[in-house]
Amino acid sequence: MPTLFDPLTLGKIVLPNRIIMAPMTRSRANTDGVIGELTATYYTQRASAGLLITEGTIPSAMGKGYVRIPGIYSSAQIAGWKLVTEAVHAAGGHIFLQIMHCGRIAHPQLLPDGAPAIAPSAILPNVKTWIDGVGMLPLETPRALESDEIPGIIEEFRQATVNALAAGFDGVELHAASGYLPMQFLSSGTNQRSDEYGGSVVKRCRFVVEALTAMVSVAGADKVGIKISPAMPFNDMADDNPVETYSTLVNAISGLGLAYLHVAQTVPTPDFHVMLRPLFTGPYLAGAGLTKESATALLASGQADAAVFGTAFIANPDLPARFASDAPLATPDASTFYTPGAQGYTDYLPK
Ligand SMILES: Cc1cc2nc3c(=O)[nH]c(=O)nc-3n(C[C@H](O)[C@H](O)[C@H](O)COP(=O)(O)O)c2cc1C
Repeated sequence: MPTLFDPLTLGKIVLPNRIIMAPMTRSRANTDGVIGELTATYYTQRASAGLLITEGTIPSAMGKGYVRIPGIYSSAQIAGWKLVTEAVHAAGGHIFLQIMHCGRIAHPQLLPDGAPAIAPSAILPNVKTWIDGVGMLPLETPRALESDEIPGIIEEFRQATVNALAAGFDGVELHAASGYLPMQFLSSGTNQRSDEYGGSVVKRCRFVVEALTAMVSVAGADKVGIKISPAMPFNDMADDNPVETYSTLVNAISGLGLAYLHVAQTVPTPDFHVMLRPLFTGPYLAGAGLTKESATALLASGQADAAVFGTAFIANPDLPARFASDAPLATPDASTFYTPGAQGYTDYLPK
């Protein structure tokens, strides 16, 4: 069985190790969703990861859910990301862009013309969000998408994939976790539709299957991955039967030939790795709450092909080297996770 330090083939690329950096929103873009040299430095410092997965990046202005998050729909945004991919590749790294549409997890103050957020159903999330210059505000009830609007949202994921490839990414990850738009379609608590996108578990999975299919149509399956977080309550999510939802979804996408399935296991039971791993034929990435020891055990047991680390990569840019030498890990400062500037971002140095 492999260790964290063995290579892994992912689509057409060979990762030098199985220590993967999790997608993490860091809110260092400008108000137009454009990132620059500072973000290129941040990712390049972490290029020894087997694979970098970027922070959630929005495919359209209506996908925005947080201040200062990046986009991939304007030429300035694409040019900004090019700085990142070129620097990471020059450092020998590999990088996928995570495409994130926040759906109902958005305050109108973040959206064009103060529009209501969009969602599968008009259900108010019990969530507050930060607005620069204002403070924390409760979210408002979203607007349910009309059936004939949904192909246009799927098209945004396709176009975002085209743009990501133009920016030089090795691939893209569909963010279908953490309570954002794709997970809002998957989950019975947020999807009360009675059209072709809700009402049965197969119909709740349809949005995600169509988004992936659109992304695959332009990138090829071997450049498209997906992240899910079954049963995660974050962002006021609920699902009557996550075991049924996620086994149906994984069965539906297993035949697509995707680059990987990334599962963040954020609840202790049931064990979704045990359940989902056998249903997916490609590389399986497990994440959330892992340590070197627990990740090594997961790989040794055959329950995952690679391990995804989030917070550990924030404070330890050279995480693979630290794991290799059993060096102590630095602790990240949570107060600078989402603040502008270099502090808490590019000032954690390698050992
Ligand atoms: C600051 C921060 C920002 C995050 N932003 C995202 C994100 O944009 N997309 C995503 O899929 N997960 C996001 N996550 C979740 C991480 O990808 C990961 O699942 C989580 O941190 C658990 O892994 P860990 O215990 O190794 O940190 C974020 C986590 C943190 C700490």
